[in-house]
Amino acid sequence: MRNICVVGTGYVGLTTGVCFSDLGNTVNCIEINPEKLELLRSGKSPIYEPGLSELQERNMRSGRLRFTDDYAFAMAEASLIFITVGTPMGDDGAADLSQVKAAARSIGQHLTRRAIIIDKSTVPVGTGDMVGTIIAEHARPDIEFAVVSNPEFLREGSAVSDFFHPDRIVLGSTNRAAAEEVAELHEPLGAQVIITDLRTAEMIKYASNAFLATRISFINEIAQICERLGADVKEVARGMGADKRIGPHFLDAGIGYGGSCFPKDVLALHHMAASAGCHPQLLQAVMDINQDARNRFVTKLRKLLGEDLNGRMIGVLGLSFKPNTDDMREAPSVDIIRALQHAGARVKAYDPVAIERAAEYIPEVTFCATAYDVAKEADALLLITEWNEFKQLNWEKIKSFMRTPNILDGRNLYDPEEMRERGFTYWGVGRGN
Ligand code: UGA
Repeated sequence: MRNICVVGTGYVGLTTGVCFSDLGNTVNCIEINPEKLELLRSGKSPIYEPGLSELQERNMRSGRLRFTDDYAFAMAEASLIFITVGTPMGDDGAADLSQVKAAARSIGQHLTRRAIIIDKSTVPVGTGDMVGTIIAEHARPDIEFAVVSNPEFLREGSAVSDFFHPDRIVLGSTNRAAAEEVAELHEPLGAQVIITDLRTAEMIKYASNAFLATRISFINEIAQICERLGADVKEVARGMGADKRIGPHFLDAGIGYGGSCFPKDVLALHHMAASAGCHPQLLQAVMDINQDARNRFVTKLRKLLGEDLNGRMIGVLGLSFKPNTDDMREAPSVDIIRALQHAGARVKAYDPVAIERAAEYIPEVTFCATAYDVAKEADALLLITEWNEFKQLNWEKIKSFMRTPNILDGRNLYDPEEMRERGFTYWGVGRGN
């Protein structure tokens, strides 16, 4: 069993700390935000992530998991130190590395024993080398350390299960022995381990996210063509996905990708490429198509209700960027709702968990307690996030509440035939309208 220090308790850091402690390791997580630290210490999770707070509580009770703002305390016994701080989108599109640099400085200053520093934050290619340089500048010269890049592939909403069942563990380092030591830590997960160099590991993360984003923009482009030519994109995706070379995942057409990762990472990769003198045409198209998907959704509503949305009542089901999370970062709902409000529409919305967070982004929305309240007096109902509880609604009730029974389904959650039989004017994405 190892002694681990985790610097930063965002999505990745908290999941990493909690789950490694659950595997029997001793874990000290560093959080410098006092309010967040207090919350964590009281056994609560600052984010909504299924299964995470139960594990956090259990491992805190066992004494294996602790939260602190004290580097010296957290690093005293640690042989493995994870950097999991945020790398938000900078003004110029490049990832903002200020938190990574600050973490590297503090780690260097508090290093008292041999340790491996594992970079798990999504960082531009070359950052691992920079982290090594910063630590060396601040650490005592007699202390040995190595830097390993270990990109994280977990998804919000299924982070705990993704941690315990990874498709692969990627480790990049110039120090093979250090990479193998980190591989050992992951042994209980039984996953394929890919050991490579630092820069390649960093690139694997960007290339993976950009590829998944590309699939989404690709299927959204196909959806647009399907609408014009009268084909059904859901069936097209099913037909394509049956080919083993293509596979069925990440081919759901809709209003595009959001969240804290894909938008930021595609833009950062584009920036990295352009700075290196490349012309990343595909990445640019992926971003443009993604933005278009949101715009087209609003255009479609205009087609349905008429150009003038002024005074129309629009109901929105789902606000978070995807189900099972309260994360509102880059959520398509924000752009769509702002566009509707700009056009003079009144917007009511319901989300099972994200309302509190959403109010910070779109305060002028009337937030409702149920999907049925959203339907009341609505001229149209917009399905934005495919939460399970929206799969089976009482459609009779919804229809009786609405002013006009129009449904715009941004995630192709419903069956067009069934919805029309129930008496709705129903439009999905890429399904013939
Ligand atoms: C994504 C990656 O899937 C993770 O592997 C990665 O670790 C993570 O980013 C990260 O870099 O930290 P996440 O953003 O949590 O994970 O969520 P996804 O499930 O990938 O969904 C991203 C967005 O794409 C959502 O808005 C979702 O609605 C949209 N999406 C997804 C589609 O529009 N269509 C699809 O077929 C799939």
